Amino acid sequence: MKFATQTIHSSYQPEEHNRALMPPIYQNSMFALHEIGENIPFRYARVSNPTRQVLEDTVAELENGCAGFAYGSGMAGIDAVWRTFLRPGDTIVAVADIYGGAYDLLTEVYAQWGVNVIFADLTQPANLDRILAQTKVKMVWLETPSNPLLRLVDIAELAAKAKAAGAIVGIDNTFATPYVQQPLNLGVDIVFHSATKYLCGHSDVLMGIVVVKDPAYAKLLRATSINTGGVAGPMDCALVLRGIKTLVVRMERHLANAAELAKRLQQHPAVEKVFYPGLLEHEHHELACKQMQHGFGGVVSIYLRHNSREAANSVIRNLRLIRMAASLGGVESLINHSASQSHSGMSTEVKESLGIREGLLRISTGIEDIEDIWNDINHALNTLI
Ligand SMILES: Cc1ncc(COP(=O)(O)O)c(C=O)c1O
Repeated sequence: MKFATQTIHSSYQPEEHNRALMPPIYQNSMFALHEIGENIPFRYARVSNPTRQVLEDTVAELENGCAGFAYGSGMAGIDAVWRTFLRPGDTIVAVADIYGGAYDLLTEVYAQWGVNVIFADLTQPANLDRILAQTKVKMVWLETPSNPLLRLVDIAELAAKAKAAGAIVGIDNTFATPYVQQPLNLGVDIVFHSATKYLCGHSDVLMGIVVVKDPAYAKLLRATSINTGGVAGPMDCALVLRGIKTLVVRMERHLANAAELAKRLQQHPAVEKVFYPGLLEHEHHELACKQMQHGFGGVVSIYLRHNSREAANSVIRNLRLIRMAASLGGVESLINHSASQSHSGMSTEVKESLGIREGLLRISTGIEDIEDIWNDINHALNTLI
């Protein structure tokens, strides 16, 4: 099956569920045994649940992995991965411009627990060479395109370097989705999604999904999931399964709208710089063409010429259609002020070093008519001229 067909038909057999055409919601914590020791496929929902299983298998298939695991939030998914593979004394190398919540988890939990955390600018692969030459690294954690400045790292090159040094390679593929980027095919071991975003697509579920390639890693993650129990509920799994069925048509519109919006924003006098990997001027455009399929994502970020919180606030206050909200990846366009929202846990110095400044706005381009999106943002930006 091709990708678009997989999103609709993979991993589910109506014949196994009273011919229900859509995966039923097994709103159920337990499954009855007829006798001691009976071998039945589902026993207790923390271990597995039929609705969750369909979702986990579907995303595993979309990412070309061997097994998937669904959690109650994206952060619970990242934590399950790191908790499975990292121990006190181990070293993790993570991309410097990592999602703010993942940064907080590393600095406030894992570093306190004794894990050696190194943030590195992996847009320069030589930086990874340098670290690998000096330190035994347990895990390398990538995120591309990054949040919010949409920097790219070379997945295949970094994965090859890390694996040659014996490290496990994980990636946050939330911004790209498996439609745009399939990291397991590029040598990565573990793919993570905040399914809260594009996989769900309708801003009504919080969820994380992890997919692995190696059955040995699947066994370890399954044990963590059962032991720690941060699994996703069946109703949420059904909603994300529904979202995935329209992933391709939604993404095509997100990609087209974002590409058009980025082009128009470049011409606006209140905008100093547009960050979008599809633009020829983007610092990693060539790499984007190499490793991203179909398009360059639905998120566009901008630096306002007036680099201040007041200017950013003026734009936000003057928007009528586009709402300010923390998340992204839904059908509706949203705007985010990263410095005070997603990356507020970082110190001013760290934010500055990463380019997360007060006059930075991140736009999650929805699937509305592009003219309505443009009119709204254009009108709000005009208040700054
Ligand atoms: C790139 C990225 N990774 C991880 C997360 C965390 O996911 P969740 O909010 O579902 O816990 C987010 C949330 O914004 C994100 O944008």
